[in-house]
Amino acid sequence: WRNRIEDTFQPTPRMSSYLVTFLVSESFQVIAQDDSFSPPVRIIGRSNTVGLGDHALRLASRMTEYFDQYFGIPYSTLHPNLMNDHISSPDWASAGTENWGMVSYREMYMIIDSNETTMAVEHYAATLISHELAHKWFGNLVTCFWWSNTWINEGFASYFGYYPTAQMFPEYDHHEHFNNRYMTGSMSFDSGVSTVPMNHEVNTPAQVTGHFGTISYSKGAAFLRQTANIITDATFQKACRYFLLNNAFEPADQYDLYNAFEQAINEDNSLSQYSNFNFTDYYRIWVNDPGYPVLNVAVNHSTGEMTLVQERFFLSASARPTGHIYPIPITYSTRSNRIFQNVRPIHMMTGSRDTLWKDPREEWVIFNNMQHGHYRVNYDEKTWRLISDSLLNEPGTIHHLNRAQIVDDVFALMRSGRMTYELGFHIFRFLRNEVNFHVWDVAITGYTWLRNRLRHLPRNQAEFDSYIISYMENVINSVGYNSDPSESPTISMNRETVLHFACNLGHRRCIQESNAGWQRMKKGEWITPYIRRSVYLTGMREGDSSDFQFLLRRYRESNFANDKLEMLRGLGGTRDPQLLQQYLALTLTSEVRSHDKANSFNYALLGNQENAYTVLQFVKSNINAIRVAYVEDAPPTPVNTALSNLASYLDEPGLAEYEEWLRTTQSNSLQYNTVISAINSARNNMEWGTNMAETILAAARGSAAGVAVSAMLLAIMAIFAMVM
Ligand SMILES: *[C@@H]1O[C@H](CO)[C@@H](O)[C@H](O)[C@H]1NC(C)=O
Ligand SMILES: *[C@@H]1O[C@H](CO)[C@@H](O)[C@H](O)[C@H]1NC(C)=O
Ligand SMILES: *[C@@H]1O[C@H](CO)[C@@H](O)[C@H](O)[C@H]1NC(C)=O
Ligand SMILES: [Zn+2]
Repeated sequence: WRNRIEDTFQPTPRMSSYLVTFLVSESFQVIAQDDSFSPPVRIIGRSNTVGLGDHALRLASRMTEYFDQYFGIPYSTLHPNLMNDHISSPDWASAGTENWGMVSYREMYMIIDSNETTMAVEHYAATLISHELAHKWFGNLVTCFWWSNTWINEGFASYFGYYPTAQMFPEYDHHEHFNNRYMTGSMSFDSGVSTVPMNHEVNTPAQVTGHFGTISYSKGAAFLRQTANIITDATFQKACRYFLLNNAFEPADQYDLYNAFEQAINEDNSLSQYSNFNFTDYYRIWVNDPGYPVLNVAVNHSTGEMTLVQERFFLSASARPTGHIYPIPITYSTRSNRIFQNVRPIHMMTGSRDTLWKDPREEWVIFNNMQHGHYRVNYDEKTWRLISDSLLNEPGTIHHLNRAQIVDDVFALMRSGRMTYELGFHIFRFLRNEVNFHVWDVAITGYTWLRNRLRHLPRNQAEFDSYIISYMENVINSVGYNSDPSESPTISMNRETVLHFACNLGHRRCIQESNAGWQRMKKGEWITPYIRRSVYLTGMREGDSSDFQFLLRRYRESNFANDKLEMLRGLGGTRDPQLLQQYLALTLTSEVRSHDKANSFNYALLGNQENAYTVLQFVKSNINAIRVAYVEDAPPTPVNTALSNLASYLDEPGLAEYEEWLRTTQSNSLQYNTVISAINSARNNMEWGTNMAETILAAARGSAAGVAVSAMLLAIMAIFAMVM
């Protein structure tokens, strides 16, 4: 028993075993502590991060305070021996894990320093800490009955990661970021053929892991927000309290949650205004059926009659229609009655068809205010043209979250064959004047999806890129190349996103400014983290071996996990095959953390198109070392991810070489089937691009043609907008 230490643990609360973690460390210590709470809130991390946990401490303290009040069951009353510790761990497979008494996080989200941390990570850290703290009640105090109910834990924690955070830390505007974090991802995944219902039977470990995904987190959160909008926030809060009180220290399933909703709704009589609406059906359908609807709206502008028809939305144009009917919360705004802030439905649509009436006049209508309902909207062409003209000529008239909704819906409608590319790109003309983050965020996602399918057609892709760049001047000018200390976090995020995309597309000024930033950094100047991604990447793309070695040294010396990850991304951007080999070899060492392996492999592919061949040669020569270093059987299957990603960056000769090598040497490997199927889907994507290139480019050219006239109109309409 020599050299052993005995520790005695207090009894835990009655709890589920998956919440137990033992963390053993020789050198971790408390790096920040708030004793005004009982138990004290503590941040615990590596000894050389002392003093760097203050930001995380403030987030954890304020959110504990919020949830104490909101749930009406203070944290300190949950159990006498419960701690409120937050561990900043250099190696952690997920972003955070809600062990009771001790939440574990990746260090990158705990060590927030405004001089060294990107805004995307600072912004995410606030929602992450809030998410994990919400789990103390939704997840730990009341645990899901089985993994098929994972969405109850994760949906609530994800919802609470946004709405309370927006109240406690209003500067981040988290409520506005809910759509780009959850709604668009959910609607994208949930329109695929392989989607599943929120409540979904899972039995094997792989199925359980798989259910910790988009449907449980994103659709779960979006469903809960949609429900809160229908029953009101006050009734929603009451339902949460009933659920927690009725099931404390017990497992609970979707029926227990339903009962809590019923109890609160009946007490508040909060559905009295919806005459034909049955909450039981609403809950059952959204929880147990996969997918979601598209609402087709046809407006008779002379009578004001609006005909609504719903059907399940599939992204694939060849998907068969199904008989699903979803209860849809209806909200809408018109040009003469802009009530975008109203998210309480004026009507619940429960059948396949409905009719609503508005004042007869020729004007746009937009359904689904601020995109709070989990559905897409399509309109008759006349109404689309009214929307399109207003977007272009009366900027700001339509709420930015609905402008983002329109962009997201239009991309999906075009892909599913419900809208022509010509009309879609005609609607996108307004992006030329658009400077809002939320709108550009979805636009960049949509454009990226299309341009990835033109990768094997360099001339077409170059033309498409120059079309996109021609739309980005205004947003680039509005964010600029330097941060202003007084700007909002959303502006900083906008700069990070927009400049990274513009530099990737070859925007000349973006490259010049980023390169200038790199030269300043090499001289030892501090550069704002809000432009570092494009500075590092441009520095590597435009630089030589000395630049690479400079950044590698900086990487090795840095104490900031987030900045190190950005530097890895930069290093992967080198154009020099030998340096790229050096970079890839680095990913095999312990200098790159386990949870960063698959990402850092991907950075080598994201950096430059021509890098894919170098990566292929590296994979062929080092496959066994990759399997060991990336940990082949780790739960997120990093080796599968890395090898599959490679397929989507190769052209046909590269794919043929890759496939041949796999067939002759790797057919017994764990990755074989996954990678062969990734090769097939890469070929399908190229084929799609080849078939669609002319249609897409014709639509882009067509939308550019009308712009000179519109710019003049714009000047006139700007005066009009001021007096509205
Ligand atoms: C950020 O840098 C400025 C100027 O170099 C310095 O005054 C400030 O203390 C730094 N802030 C933090 C959080 O380190
Ligand atoms: C709602 O629908 C369910 C069947 O789905 C039915 O059992 C219940 O009686 C209905 N509730 C009301 C108030 O009509
Ligand atoms: C609008 O409704 C009127 C009256 O029912 C009808 O005469 C007209 O054809 C309709 N217009 C369209 C475009 O459907
Ligand atoms: Zn969670």
